[in-house]
Amino acid sequence: MVLEITKMPYKIYNFPSLASTQDKAKEFVKKGLSNIVISADRQAKGHGRFKRKWHSAKGGLYASIILNPENTENIQYLTFAAAIAVVKSIKKIANLDAAIKWPNDVHYNKRKLCGILTEGIFGAKNHVIVGIGLNVNQDKFPKSIKNNSTSLKIIKHEDFNIKRILNGIIREFFILYNKYYNENKLKKITRLWEKYCDTIGKNVAVITREKKLHGRVVGVDENCSLLLKLDGGRTKKVIEGDIHVRY
Ligand code: BTN
Repeated sequence: MVLEITKMPYKIYNFPSLASTQDKAKEFVKKGLSNIVISADRQAKGHGRFKRKWHSAKGGLYASIILNPENTENIQYLTFAAAIAVVKSIKKIANLDAAIKWPNDVHYNKRKLCGILTEGIFGAKNHVIVGIGLNVNQDKFPKSIKNNSTSLKIIKHEDFNIKRILNGIIREFFILYNKYYNENKLKKITRLWEKYCDTIGKNVAVITREKKLHGRVVGVDENCSLLLKLDGGRTKKVIEGDIHVRY
């Protein structure tokens, strides 16, 4: 059953269960549709960056936003915009000060609350799918992730209305998308992102596909790459990887 839950310039379609909202979104892209959000109450095959499994039991928020932007050269800014939208919405709805961790996480007290997966689909018409997985009402997580995951319910000891949170995130995201991304005001997105990011200035280990780097995060560049001042003194750009804060 598909349920339309909004009356806004974009539509949100909710499914009780899907393999992955990201994969369903790709089916919609094939039909040439955009400004649509696909959400599901649970996913059987939710996935994240580097094809990692995304635990998707009922109680979480799983959504993919389908966009058809003119500019597809800077889609990493859409990951930043989604992270900002998540942090702002959970502040409003759960009164929680979560923080962004480069490149695509929102966390609280060193535990992951939300992951974002942005994928470009390039063809005659270019599309971008921004997938958001937010831990809302889960009480527990599988052993493999339980030490580094948390949910709004675990933190706040109450249940939250997932649809309300989703509406908040999507509304906030489209404000940033229309006002800044589509107007090419990308620095505005970076400034906001930096405001909510707590990894800048921290000593970290970054695990990339090739190696492990140690240094201090000094910021991000115009491509949203991480700028890491290595322990040796040189500044290195990191395009992708996982960060572990050292102290
Ligand atoms: C990550 O941290 O690596 C990103 C995780 C993204 C998970 C979301 S849940 C909704 C959408 N559907 C998916 O299969 N993945 C994304």
